[in-house]
This record gives sequence, C-alpha cells and structure tokens, in this order.
Amino acid sequence: MEQELKDLRVEFSNALASARDEAALEAIRIRFLGQKSGCLTHLMRGLGRLPADQRPRMGQTVNSLKKEMDAGLAAALAALASPERRSDGLDPTLPGCAPNLGQLHPITLVRRELEEIFISLGYSIEEGPEVETEFHNFEALNIPPDHPARDDHDSFYAGPGRVLRTHTSPVQIRTMQRCQPPLKFIAPGMVFRRDAIDPNHTPAFFQLEGMAVGERVSLADLKGTLTVFWRRLFGDRIQVRFRPSYFPFVEPGAEVDISCILCLGKGCRACGGSGWIEIMGAGMVHPAVFRAVGYDPDRVSGFAFGMGIDRIAKLKYGIEDLRLFWENDLRFLGQFRNESPR
Ligand code: DAH
Repeated sequence: MEQELKDLRVEFSNALASARDEAALEAIRIRFLGQKSGCLTHLMRGLGRLPADQRPRMGQTVNSLKKEMDAGLAAALAALASPERRSDGLDPTLPGCAPNLGQLHPITLVRRELEEIFISLGYSIEEGPEVETEFHNFEALNIPPDHPARDDHDSFYAGPGRVLRTHTSPVQIRTMQRCQPPLKFIAPGMVFRRDAIDPNHTPAFFQLEGMAVGERVSLADLKGTLTVFWRRLFGDRIQVRFRPSYFPFVEPGAEVDISCILCLGKGCRACGGSGWIEIMGAGMVHPAVFRAVGYDPDRVSGFAFGMGIDRIAKLKYGIEDLRLFWENDLRFLGQFRNESPR
C-alpha cells in the first residue's frame, strides 16, 4: 500500500502540471478524490482491512496525501483565476518599461527661477533679436566704433553692420525705443562672443539684462533691488557689495559681488579664499544712452544690470565645466530639478 501511495502522489502531480483549465482540474479531483471512484478514496476505504498495528501510520500517510491533493488543486485553481495567466501570454503584473520623460535643461530651470523673482518685483520680460545691428549692440550703448570696450566683446559679424549680439544690453535700446518711461523689465537671452572654448568659456552663453527707468530712480533703488534679488535666489544671509567699475553705458558703473554661497564669506575654494563672488555688472544709465533713444536725461533716470545665467547655474549646481551644458549628455541633464537651496 505504501508503494501505491507513492505512485499515486507522482501521478497526481503530473496530472496537475498538465492541467490547463478548470474542467481539467475538476476531472483530476474526481479521478483522485471523487466520492465514488476516486483512487485515494478507494485506498482510504481499504485502510480497514490492514492489520491493526499498521492502521494508524498508514491512516496518517493517506490523510496527509489527501490534504496535499486538496491544497494542490486549490492552488492550481487560484493560479488559473489570477491575471498573471492570460491566454494571450501577456503578464500585466510584470514591471513595465519606464518611459523616458524629457526634462528641462538646467539653464532653462535657472532662467525661469530668475524670471520668477523679477516678475514678483513687477518686472516684465522683453526680447530682442540675436542678430543685432551694430547700432543697438554698440553705438546706442555709448560704445563707438573705435572704443576699446569693443575689443572685450570680440564679436561674430553677420554681414555689414550686423553682429551676433555680444550681450543682452541692446534689448535696453529696443525696449526704450518702443516704450515710454516708466519701465521696468528684464531681458534674458543667448549672446555670442568669439572666445576659445574652455571650462569657463563657450562661444554662446546666456545673460539676463535688467533695467528700470523713471523719474528719480536712484542708485539706492538699484542696490535694494539687487540685494532682494540675490537673497531670494540664494538665501537671506547673502551680502551684496558694489565695487566701482566701468561700462560705457552706465555712470557710475559697478561690479557687483555676492558673499560666497558656499562659505558665506569665510573664504573657500569656490570663492578663491576671498569670501566674495563676482557675479554681475550694473550702474546708472548713462545720459548718452537716454539721448540715443530720444529720452530726456534731465527728466528721467534709471539703472541697468546684466548677469550671466550659465555662471549662476554653475554656482547653484556646483558645476565646474560650462561645456557640460552643451554636450547634451542625458546622464548629466537628467540630474536637475528646480529645487532652490532656500
Ligand atoms: N553688458 C555687460 C556685459 O556683457 C553687462 C552689464 C554691465 C550690463 C553693466 C548692464 C550694466 O546693464 O549696467 O559684460
């Protein structure tokens, strides 16, 4: 009888493995466990004919095989009902392929963040062409043809009297030509200079220009505005300082430094130990610029400023090489989310 039980067990598990649907499982149940003619039922009935000393042990073995068969049938039935076994072979419970979602470029993220701060301060956003006239890019900004400042801007020329704009300052001219004061706007955009490519220079980069013009706009307004701006961007502990400097289109002109965003002024590698980071140019609009657009410098005053967006992105994300922004390596570009460190 022992051998019979063993054979039955093997037979049962073979039958179970080949069952494909509920009807097949039911046939197996009847064949092995059916009330009338099930093979195991038959063996159970035979237990009574065994010698009394063998009965308890065989009884146990038969019982546990019955339990095993019941459990096997139940499990096979459950597996048939589960969505993992579909006739078309599709298993919807397997993990899918994650779609490759696009993401904003780090420079775009930073540009939008800067724009949002200025919009909250009441600034509008203006645009100008990337191919500029020499008049807008230079002359009207008080940079005549022989002016040494033109050398700093090593321009790409695009036909007679045309240059790829070397800065976003010409948008000041276009906006003032189009609108009457008071005005308050920023102009973000791409600019171009004939620079050799290295970790700190690319021939195309991004700037954000800003300008406010009205009656009695003062240097104090400029300092206040820029201090609020840098603190919104990098946190309330940021200090802003102005150093006298020269740009032909402003007088007085200044280089603006912020306290180092990493060491907050103590001095570290990022700020070359000085505690300060040179971050932008600014100043009070030169009377010659107002005259070039037909504004009366005795009636209006204004401030202007310009900053490099790439440079801010570099600082914010701790990137050492500007070229990474242009290489389109998705492993690099995929790392940025618009979370400001505030
Ligand atoms: N246009 C300057 C440059 O590209 C930056 C700049 C400096 C803009 C002073 C300004 C300003 O509006 O007032 O280097």
